[in-house]
Amino acid sequence: MKEKYAILIVDDEKLQRESLAGFLKKSGYQTYTAAGVDQAISIVSEKQIEIIFSDFMMGEKSGFDLLNEIRQLNPEISVIIMTAFGTIQDAVAAMKAGAFDYLTKPIDLDEVEILIQRALELRHLTRENKELRERLRDKHKLSGIITSSSVMAETLSLAARAANSRASVLIQGESGTGKELIARAIHQTSPRADKPMVTINCAAIPENLLESELFGHEKGSFTGAVQQKSGRVEEADGGTLFLDEAGDIPLSVQVKLLRFLQFGEFQRVGGNTVHKVDVRLISATNRDLPTMIKENTFREDFYYRLNVINITVPPLRQRKEDIPLLIDFFIQKYARENQKAVNRLTSGALDVLMKYDFPGNVRELENIIERSVVLSREELIARTDLPLTISSAINGRGAGQIPIDYYSGSLNDRVAAFERDLIERALKEHNFNQSRAAEALGLSERNLRYKLQKYGMK
Ligand SMILES: Nc1ncnc2c1ncn2[C@@H]1O[C@H](COP(=O)(O)OP(=O)(O)OP(=O)(O)O)[C@@H](O)[C@H]1O
Ligand SMILES: [Mg+2]
Repeated sequence: MKEKYAILIVDDEKLQRESLAGFLKKSGYQTYTAAGVDQAISIVSEKQIEIIFSDFMMGEKSGFDLLNEIRQLNPEISVIIMTAFGTIQDAVAAMKAGAFDYLTKPIDLDEVEILIQRALELRHLTRENKELRERLRDKHKLSGIITSSSVMAETLSLAARAANSRASVLIQGESGTGKELIARAIHQTSPRADKPMVTINCAAIPENLLESELFGHEKGSFTGAVQQKSGRVEEADGGTLFLDEAGDIPLSVQVKLLRFLQFGEFQRVGGNTVHKVDVRLISATNRDLPTMIKENTFREDFYYRLNVINITVPPLRQRKEDIPLLIDFFIQKYARENQKAVNRLTSGALDVLMKYDFPGNVRELENIIERSVVLSREELIARTDLPLTISSAINGRGAGQIPIDYYSGSLNDRVAAFERDLIERALKEHNFNQSRAAEALGLSERNLRYKLQKYGMK
């Protein structure tokens, strides 16, 4: 089996390279020899080489040159540097330059065999890892996103295609629709997945500090800048910068970001050196940027830079077929987290949720399920385990009347359900005239209005 591994020995002394090659050949490896860096490079570009043993000092070019060229050509090759006894500094320098390991001459052959085994093992692991990642990427599946709806499938297919490019992506959608989740998935399936994704919540950072957070500052550039600080864009070098709540970026910072997007260049606050980084930008917002442009609170040129690829995430009420799937997913998640035996919803409870509008989208559904799992006493989540505001919201809209259940749930919930029912009846009896309904209930009109609001009734 060993002969499928090829080892290249580079040494300007013929005797040295031939004796090591002879030993390795006898051990069963396929071997090549080269007398210098240039010859070594030409062999590497033609043959599939696994491991290189290279002398350090070889005429004009050194082991450093070899390491540099190999890194460009094929970084998967493990290079082992052989140095003369007593030149440990060379060995350290070679390790820093990316050598796999080093040997001191005279060479200990047992050590050679151990190093080869280690190098092959590492190679095997990195290969496996790479294949796994490629397979995941190829599936064009964005991880952790639960959906079965066709509108979302389109959105995700666009996201998967966007992932392969470095074009700026703007993700728009209502609050809680999964914008951040999609941004993360784009980064994770992009060729930049190995590098960081740096997230900045532009709404959470005070206006006067956002520029410094992004680009860093020089010492003394403003009160409080006691030390030089590098910016988050530098952290994101080679990776992705995610600007969350991008609609909240103040105009002054939009100008700076625009320049950054055009040229990849920036200056720290209070500094005049120009820095350059390679960053892919994803931004997200639930605000209506075109309207903000009309109102002069968002720059049009900046908008076009952000919005090269536009991904609009539909609200949950426009993809109700996702509700049951998400419910299952969240029940499992929170049952595990809370060590509860809950595993499903009664059909009554599902019915209520299917009729609800979810102004807070997936996040609201997730919160509802978490709360219900925590509060449930049985394996089933019943309608009465759901927050009362939901049934009220549905009834208030007059859609799908749900009979009120006074006989289960907490006392507070039951009393509230009863109260809500009585108010509704009184209103109907009096043709929705609030002052007469209030009189019939023995309430002040103001108190009735308060209760209507509390129960989300119109
Ligand atoms: N399709 C989905 N599958 C599984 N979980 C989801 C899905 N969509 C959203 N979530 C979950 O819902 C929550 C809200 O999602 P996220 O934070 O991505 O929303 P957002 O659009 O960024 O919201 P906001 O505008 O409020 O910042 C998160 O916990 C996320 O994991
Ligand atoms: Mg978000």
